Amino acid sequence: GMAGVLFELLPIAELHLHIEGTLQPELIFALAARNGMDLPYTDLDELRALYQFTDLQSFLDLYYANMAVLQTEEDFADMTRAYLERAAAAGVRHAEIMFDPQAHLSRGVALETCVNGVASVLATSMEDFGVSTMLIAAFLRDLSEESALEVFDNLMAMNAPLGAIGLDSAEVGNPPAKFERLFAKARDAGLRLTAHAGEEGPAAYIIEALDILGVERIDHGIRCMDDPDLVERLVDERIPLTVCPLSNVRLRAVDTLADHPLPAMLAAGLNVSVHSDDPAYFGGYVDDNFAHLRAAVGLSEFDAARLAANSIHSSFASEERKAELL
Ligand code: ADE
Ligand code: ZN
Repeated sequence: GMAGVLFELLPIAELHLHIEGTLQPELIFALAARNGMDLPYTDLDELRALYQFTDLQSFLDLYYANMAVLQTEEDFADMTRAYLERAAAAGVRHAEIMFDPQAHLSRGVALETCVNGVASVLATSMEDFGVSTMLIAAFLRDLSEESALEVFDNLMAMNAPLGAIGLDSAEVGNPPAKFERLFAKARDAGLRLTAHAGEEGPAAYIIEALDILGVERIDHGIRCMDDPDLVERLVDERIPLTVCPLSNVRLRAVDTLADHPLPAMLAAGLNVSVHSDDPAYFGGYVDDNFAHLRAAVGLSEFDAARLAANSIHSSFASEERKAELL
């Protein structure tokens, strides 16, 4: 890879990854063919030409549309296997993988189909790829809390092998406080808690996620840089921020990689780590994010090593697994 010798030796934990965002154009066509479905695109080039986004919503529209090809457990399993194989090659040794159950339910795919398809591959990931895993159910913040609570109860009733819940989809206008009861319930069930906040939304959403939802980790969080008091708090409390540089550029949350706040976040002493979000849509996996960062902002080997170590520390892995990876 392009990432450099030292980095390739560093174990990484992937903490911000939507499994549906790993669906590559080639796999979209293969699954559509297998399922006898017509796609609204005639070929790969026509699909790839749509991967030009103006904001989060413009991406979400294509991301949800492409999920239509995921119909069977085998489809979910094939997508998950392809991701883990690629992630292992990038140096990922632990992966906390989000999926969007409501996005599948709303198109008539049963909870069992998506959960069992993904979980069947995670179950042997350590043996097959040397990657330990955790499954995170992410809830769509542009839907109601009632919908999230119903799906959460169904996940618990089927004993879905979840380690955590998350909160994703359209951020602005859907503040964390909307999901206070969901996160309280998940905490009572013994699950770990994370939420997207401060991607497109304001720094105030990061504060809400911490104070009202009680999350341990913030996905993205880049907008904290607008609020110096919040930065000081995040530093003091060592709150992990799972930053996704290529995603932020492709969704226009930042203008260019050279303008990305990551170096300033590191300099401020924030507990940041680098992740890939939706790698099939944003131009790369975690190794690609590091390589592009190095080219754009001159990330040092020292900073790369710190980011890698932060990813392990910020994971929800057992202390034993963390010790193996550090
Ligand atoms: N779902 C998938 N990727 C996402 C992102 N970057 N932000 C919010 N929701 C998402
Ligand atoms: Zn995300």
